[in-house]
Amino acid sequence: MGHTSEDLTGPDLAAGVPESSIPASGLLLGRVGDAQVLIVRQGHDVFAIGARCTHYKGPLAEGLVVGKTIRCPWHHACFHLDTGRPDPPALDPVPRWRVDRQGGQIIVKDRLPDAEPPNRGGSDPGPMVIIGGGAAGMAAALTLRGEGYRGRITMISADKDAPYDRPNLSKDYLAGSAPEDWMPLRDDQFFKDASIDLILDTKVTRIDTARRQVELSDGRVEPYGALLLATGASPIRLDVPGADLPHVRYLRSLDDARAIIERLLPGIRVAIVGASFIGLEVAAALRTRGAVVHVIDPAARPMERVVGPEVADFIRALHESHGVMFHLQQQVISIAEGRLTLSGGSTLTPDLVVVGIGVRPSIALASEAGLATDRGIHVNEYLETTATGVFAAGDIARWPDSHSGDRIRVEHWVLAERQGQAAARNMLGLGRRFDTVPFFWSQHYDVTINYVGHAETWDAVERDGSLEDRDCSFTYRRAGRILAVATIGRDRESLQAERAIESA
Ligand SMILES: Cc1cc2nc3c(=O)[nH]c(=O)nc-3n(C[C@H](O)[C@H](O)[C@H](O)COP(=O)(O)OP(=O)(O)OC[C@H]3O[C@@H](n4cnc5c(N)ncnc54)[C@H](O)[C@@H]3O)c2cc1C
Ligand code: FES
Repeated sequence: MGHTSEDLTGPDLAAGVPESSIPASGLLLGRVGDAQVLIVRQGHDVFAIGARCTHYKGPLAEGLVVGKTIRCPWHHACFHLDTGRPDPPALDPVPRWRVDRQGGQIIVKDRLPDAEPPNRGGSDPGPMVIIGGGAAGMAAALTLRGEGYRGRITMISADKDAPYDRPNLSKDYLAGSAPEDWMPLRDDQFFKDASIDLILDTKVTRIDTARRQVELSDGRVEPYGALLLATGASPIRLDVPGADLPHVRYLRSLDDARAIIERLLPGIRVAIVGASFIGLEVAAALRTRGAVVHVIDPAARPMERVVGPEVADFIRALHESHGVMFHLQQQVISIAEGRLTLSGGSTLTPDLVVVGIGVRPSIALASEAGLATDRGIHVNEYLETTATGVFAAGDIARWPDSHSGDRIRVEHWVLAERQGQAAARNMLGLGRRFDTVPFFWSQHYDVTINYVGHAETWDAVERDGSLEDRDCSFTYRRAGRILAVATIGRDRESLQAERAIESA
């Protein structure tokens, strides 16, 4: 995905370009040495930044400028133009260059150093403890350091692996096109250099809010000044005879993915239970590897509850065109070695069964500690739980969403990271309200669906464009109000829809 000097386009910015050559969009792609650089004009200010997003190298020239930020069209990372600092899913700043303006010319030559974290000084709120090494936990740890916090950070994770790119588990990694070394969000050295004490393969077993400490499965006790709960969710188990056989697998962790990949012998027959986003991404990835894939779901259409009937039919047809066989309006009755019986009476003969029937938020620690829960951990608009100094973020948090007016809990990667970021700032006493519009993406073969907003129910859905051409948007409304927008092949429109929901 890296770009080389051969890919470079646009004028040589070191030689200078007339300011008047910046198009009305405010974006001009050029080059400085062997770097592709994007000029961004916002009001009277002109910035020069790297042209590629630091997440998966999305083209920022196709993004959306909002105030002094630019948003990436692919997965909605946001970069602050004056510092280069990222909002997730990007975790690294975008490079910046100094802009000189001379006699109507813009000249860009010198790369600027990365912005230093603010010097917070002042009082230390005490050790920061993060429970969970996933999206929210990792974003929180990075934000604490990014905000200039110099005190102790301890991150405790039940996972054997250091934080990794979980969405990729059902996409390129499972398909075999992303090697293992793409998966870690940071290497081991980073945690040492950043003085983040990462404790892996260890559970927090108890939170004592009176003593402000947590107890670990290895007997250790960690005191906290502020605590973040980011324990995520765990897969709902299939409850049928034979569901505990070794060839029945789930996919939540990197280890789960490795266990599935290990079994992928040529011509393997796989039954996927649950036509969820994850189930269908697994179907796509395994078809890419040549597996014979069956998908079973009790619903009449895959994912209709999330995207409505028209998109659901498109997704089904897309998977069928790649050879996936659906068994809809059917349930699994029992599983045996090499045999799976469906409610309709037919049987399949899978070598491997992958179950993707949803997840349950991991909230036991919180409820045992006496924190308020409501199908998730109850948090306020600052992501603080009902215990002072204890915050929750990610798949576990149910927060008051200012856009829908509802208390919601969602299971999206970017949102979990943004919540981790906001919670970290609030652990430092910065008092930031969380009001990010939810966003997720899902990838099926060469089709990516982007979805902004949150619509559990809607009374109208409008399509613009053509599904057949893979160029369309769907707007989900309740009582006339836009709740969510799904797009295919219209990444910029997805950013605009996000902005519209934010400002409504
Ligand atoms: C295969 C797959 C594909 C996905 N694809 C997408 C996608 O394309 N787009 C999207 O938006 N979302 C996607 N998601 C959802 C997304 O990954 C989650 O919403 C996100 O990871 C939630 O972040 P989190 O920090 O809340 O939890 P997680 O990332 O699950 O992290 C939870 C962490 O807590 C740890 N933990 C749990 N209990 C304890 C304990 N008691 N003590 C210590 N540690 C504990 C776990 O080990 C883990 O490290 C996908 C999820 C999966 C599984
Ligand atoms: S490539 Fe930019 S957000 Fe993913």
